[in-house]
Amino acid sequence: MATPIKVGLAGFGNVGKGTYDVLQRNQSLIAQRAGAPIEVLRVVVRKADRVKPLVDEKIKVTEDWHDLVNDPDINVVVEVMGGIEPARSLILAAINAGKHVVTANKALLAEHGNEIFAAAEKKGVNVAFEAAVAGSIPIIKVLREGLAANRVSMIAGIINGTSNFILSTMRSTGRSFDDVLKEAQELGYAEADPTFDIEGIDTAHKLMLLAAIAFGCPVDMGKVHIEGISHLHAEDIAYAEELGYRIKLLGITKYTDWGIELRVHPALVPATRLLADVEGAMNAVVVKGDAAESSLYYGKGAGAEPTGSAVIADLVDIARTADVSIAQRPKMPTTSGRQSKPFADFGDTVCSYYLRIPVSDRPGVLADITRIIADNNISIESVIQKEALDKEVGTEVIMMTHTTVENSVQRAIRMMQELKSVRGQIILLRQEELR
Ligand code: HSE
Repeated sequence: MATPIKVGLAGFGNVGKGTYDVLQRNQSLIAQRAGAPIEVLRVVVRKADRVKPLVDEKIKVTEDWHDLVNDPDINVVVEVMGGIEPARSLILAAINAGKHVVTANKALLAEHGNEIFAAAEKKGVNVAFEAAVAGSIPIIKVLREGLAANRVSMIAGIINGTSNFILSTMRSTGRSFDDVLKEAQELGYAEADPTFDIEGIDTAHKLMLLAAIAFGCPVDMGKVHIEGISHLHAEDIAYAEELGYRIKLLGITKYTDWGIELRVHPALVPATRLLADVEGAMNAVVVKGDAAESSLYYGKGAGAEPTGSAVIADLVDIARTADVSIAQRPKMPTTSGRQSKPFADFGDTVCSYYLRIPVSDRPGVLADITRIIADNNISIESVIQKEALDKEVGTEVIMMTHTTVENSVQRAIRMMQELKSVRGQIILLRQEELR
C-alpha cells in the first residue's frame, strides 16, 4: 500500500472548499486510485469560526499557518489561499520540514518558482501545481508525461476565462469592453479589481509555468511581453470577424532559433481553428510537439470543483510516488531535461499583423502609407477601406500584412503616425495562424 496522504489545507475559499468537497464525496474511489487514503487533518484559514461548520468535526481548523508545518502527521501541505505572502513562507517552511506541497498559486510560482523549486529539489519533495494552470485541464501532466517524448516547439492557450468571456460576449453582442466587463463582474467571473485578468497578467503567470515545464527554463516574468484586452475596440473585433478571424487573448510560447518567445496579447485567430470556437469562460491549450504534432486540450479553467479536481490529481500523484526514489519522482520544471535557451527579444517576434489606420480621405494617402510599409520591408496581404465611425477622421484603412518582424512593424507605425493624413492612433493587432 502507498503512503497514506495526510493533508494540511491552507485556505478554504472557492478552491479549498471545492477540493474538500470532492475529496469527501469521492473518498473511496480516490483512495482506490491513489493506492492509499487521502485525508484532511487540518485546515488553516483567516477566520476559523466561519469554516468549522463546513468540515468534519475531527478536522482541526486554526488560524496560524505554522500549525500545518509543525504537525508531524501532515505529509502534504495544500496551499490554496493565493497571494504571495504568507503563501511563499508557508510553502518554503513546509518544504524545509520535508513535506510535499500542492499549490494552485500561479502568481507565486511564476514570480518565486526558482527559489521554491530549488528548495524542493534539495529536500527531495514534490511541488505540484496542476491547479495553477487552466483549472481542470491536466495540461501540466500532458507536458510532463503525455508528451514526454516530444520536443515541444509551441504552446498557445486561452488560459484566462474572464477575458475570454469578455471577448466572446463583445463579439456576439457588439457591446463595448467596459459594458461587458461590468457584466463579467456581476456574474462573478471578474474580480472587483480585474487588473490581473484583463491586463494579461494572469495569463502571463500561467504561460511562464507552461514554458518552464516544456523548455526547462527558469521562471522570469520580466521576459514575458504582456498586453491585455482593455484597449480593444468593438470595431476591431467586428472587422476581424469580417476578415475571417476571431480575437482571442493568447498566451504564446515558442522555442525558436532566436530564443524562447513568451508573449501575451490579443491575437487574430483564423475562425476555422478549433481554438477560435472556445467561447465564454472556457480555457483551451494547443501544444505542438515534434512527434505528437498538434494536440488541443479544452475545459474549465476556473471554479471550485474543476480546480479542486486538479488539486486532487496532484495528491493522487504524490500518494503514488511518495515511496519511490527521488530519481523516479516528477521533475521540477527547472530540471525537466530540455536544453534551455535564452529568452527571445520581443522585437524579434515574427508574426503577421492587422493594422487599422485612421486617415483623411484624399488622393495620395494610401500611396504614402504603402511607401512606408514597403520601405520597412513589409509585404501587404490585403487592404480594405471603411468609413470611420468618427466622421471627423474620414476613413480607415485596414491592412493585413504577411509575416514580418515586430521591430519593422513598430518602425513603420512610428513613421506613419508622423503623416499629416493619419488622423489618430494606429491600432495594431497580431495574427496567429496556429498551423
Ligand atoms: N481568474 C482566472 C480566470 C481563474 O479568469 O481564468 C483562475 O486562474
